[in-house]
Amino acid sequence: MTVPTEILSPPALDPTRVRAQFPSLSQTVNGHPAAFLDGPGGTQVPQRVIDAISDYLRRDNANTGGAYSTSRHTDAMIAEARAAMADFLHCGPDEVVFGPNMTSLTFAISRAIGRELKPGDEILVTRLDHDANVSPWLAIAEDRGTTVRWAEIHDEDCTLDMADLASKINKNTKLVAAGYASNAVGTINPVKEIVKLAHAAGALAYIDAVHYAPHGLIDVAALDCDFLACSTYKFFGPHMGVLYGKSEHLKRLRPYKVRPNTNAIPNCWEWGTLNHECIAGITACVDYIADLARNLNGTCGDSRLGCPAEQSSASARRAAIQSAYAAIHEHERALIERMISGLKKIPGLKIYGIADPARFKERCGTFAVRIEGHSPLELATKLGDRGLFTWDGNYYALNLTEHLDVEKSGGFLRIGLVHYNTSEEVDRLLAALREIVETK
Ligand SMILES: Cc1ncc(COP(=O)(O)O)c(C=O)c1O
Repeated sequence: MTVPTEILSPPALDPTRVRAQFPSLSQTVNGHPAAFLDGPGGTQVPQRVIDAISDYLRRDNANTGGAYSTSRHTDAMIAEARAAMADFLHCGPDEVVFGPNMTSLTFAISRAIGRELKPGDEILVTRLDHDANVSPWLAIAEDRGTTVRWAEIHDEDCTLDMADLASKINKNTKLVAAGYASNAVGTINPVKEIVKLAHAAGALAYIDAVHYAPHGLIDVAALDCDFLACSTYKFFGPHMGVLYGKSEHLKRLRPYKVRPNTNAIPNCWEWGTLNHECIAGITACVDYIADLARNLNGTCGDSRLGCPAEQSSASARRAAIQSAYAAIHEHERALIERMISGLKKIPGLKIYGIADPARFKERCGTFAVRIEGHSPLELATKLGDRGLFTWDGNYYALNLTEHLDVEKSGGFLRIGLVHYNTSEEVDRLLAALREIVETK
């Protein structure tokens, strides 16, 4: 697919217009407006995603491959969702595999990759990753007698130690599993460089983009990764997982599958009957993101917002997605600056991760903090009572919380920002933290 080199000019997001599309954002808790600072655990969905899911259930609820209208509609709907995700990831539709979530897709593909592993081979995982990009590789390594090596981090800013990572890749390395961004501390990893290092050794590169997807444009063609997994519920869509697999690998590897299922790519990688209603929501979710740019350039596809529906080509949608992420980046960048500068003023608070404004391009708006004398659970509970939704614990970034020795004392308090969050919400969070600390 060719994307026009001249993408839509980066627009500025209009928070009021953005937020009006998300029904859940107008809730209150104990008289306080709900502030969803829990995006890393799952984002809210715009009305069009809700509509797409319920319309599918109301009208087309059927299995695939039948000789009647609702089944044919279902086949067409799944093909549309594959095309939407292909635009989102910048790959071919036949390289898009749907599954219940990133974790199950990773376990599934790891079994197929494992058929090619033997004792003496090595897999490299990182200390920074969510366990969903660690445990499937530990399990297959155990099954196949493969050695697992670990890339360490710089403790002071929770970034990957790239020299360590490079030193642990060698001619025996068969797969490098790394995250695009940390769901705990917000670090964005140099994944293009990681892919290059893996390929130079003849290894596959498996990228977990679950945490990166709401914040930055994914371009699997530019990354040249072999696999990349993400979950649409982290970027304003339904609870589903999506796996990009390079066509040559999806064709070469042999899936664990039931015999009556097709051998066609990519369907042979999809187990059982999928969650069709959620797949219907995926196209709406990708179009929501694309329309963040289209709206601002006067070509909105959302008729409920007073704009005529537009039938766009794949490359036009990809260009709009690129432009939308430029706008998301600008909006989130301002919130990151405000948040970090406020957090630094709270007595006894420690930020885990990059806190130097000169390096903010290496992080997204996910903050792990601890405050002396307060457990993360206590903080999250007190914030929750004030309508501020945050998270406490390890969020499955278990190797990181153990390594930093915070696992036994409750992990971190995690505050996560996405593009529907506002500077007012950041200020409310900071004021609430100050109040909690001062009234102890
Ligand atoms: C970075 C990261 N990777 C993987 C996962 C697992 O995703 P899923 O819930 O789709 O299995 C998560 C979920 O929080 C995550 O944040």
